[in-house]
Amino acid sequence: MRTIVITGASSGIGAALARHYAAAGTRLILVARNATRLERVAEECRARGAIAEAAQGDTRDRAAIRTLLREVDARTPIDLVVVNAAINGGGREGRVETEETAFETADTNYTGSLNVMLPALSLMLERGRGQIALMSSLAAYAPLADAPTYSGAKAALVAHGLALRQKVRPLGVKISVVTPGYVKTPMGGELKGWRPLEMSADRAAVVIARGLARDRDVVSFPLPLAVLARSVLLLPEWVRRISLSAFRFNKR
Ligand SMILES: NC(=O)c1ccc[n+]([C@@H]2O[C@H](COP(=O)([O-])OP(=O)(O)OC[C@H]3O[C@@H](n4cnc5c(N)ncnc54)[C@H](OP(=O)(O)O)[C@@H]3O)[C@@H](O)[C@H]2O)c1
Repeated sequence: MRTIVITGASSGIGAALARHYAAAGTRLILVARNATRLERVAEECRARGAIAEAAQGDTRDRAAIRTLLREVDARTPIDLVVVNAAINGGGREGRVETEETAFETADTNYTGSLNVMLPALSLMLERGRGQIALMSSLAAYAPLADAPTYSGAKAALVAHGLALRQKVRPLGVKISVVTPGYVKTPMGGELKGWRPLEMSADRAAVVIARGLARDRDVVSFPLPLAVLARSVLLLPEWVRRISLSAFRFNKR
């Protein structure tokens, strides 16, 4: 039995990954706040032959998430954790992001991710086996003026994930960072702006799962946007400002 935990599994990329991995011989633990949407995804996964549990929870609740992971792991050791839950943050109608939104975004996208990753890592280190995927974004490399805390949290996940990867690889735990470009999901739908090379969540799930199966350090896609984003910090600021102005957006 392969046990996979996915946070943010009630929607978008998390739900698509759940459906992708759903098969006989797989136990899926699906985490998100909205119980109705989560149960719907769990049902779809069961129809594909998986054992799927809808575990309603908020990744900002460190104690509850830790308890959940320990309970799941005691029943069947967790093979893969996809740390995926996040929110957009950003300011409304082009305004600067408020302090409240910034802290909510940092709490969800960075601290919330650590609330999942760190207890999972402890369990995996104890038995010397396991894999963790951290869902970052190409915004980690190309900071978006309209989503500053989102960009910062995603950059932190890249740095944190890659630093830990080096440390824990010899101890049997694999860590990958995933940096997607534009993916068609409810999160993307909140934003009004240019979304070049946008792909479906189902296609993104296939690319992510392939990268994880190959134990890639960074799973970056689509390639042209990934190359552009990953070179942007090498540019002088004025060139970067002009290049990134094409990617400005408004929150609906
Ligand atoms: N879509 C894109 O273009 C894009 C691009 C690059 C990276 N990403 C990243 O991909 C990941 C998935 O995004 P998506 O586009 O699929 O967005 P989405 O459809 O809005 O899904 C986000 C998921 O996170 C969950 N979530 C949010 N806050 C949570 C919390 N505090 N506790 C538990 N679950 C929480 C949501 O469920 P509930 O509301 O039910 O809790 C939902 O299942 C995110 O990390 C995002 O930053 C997306």
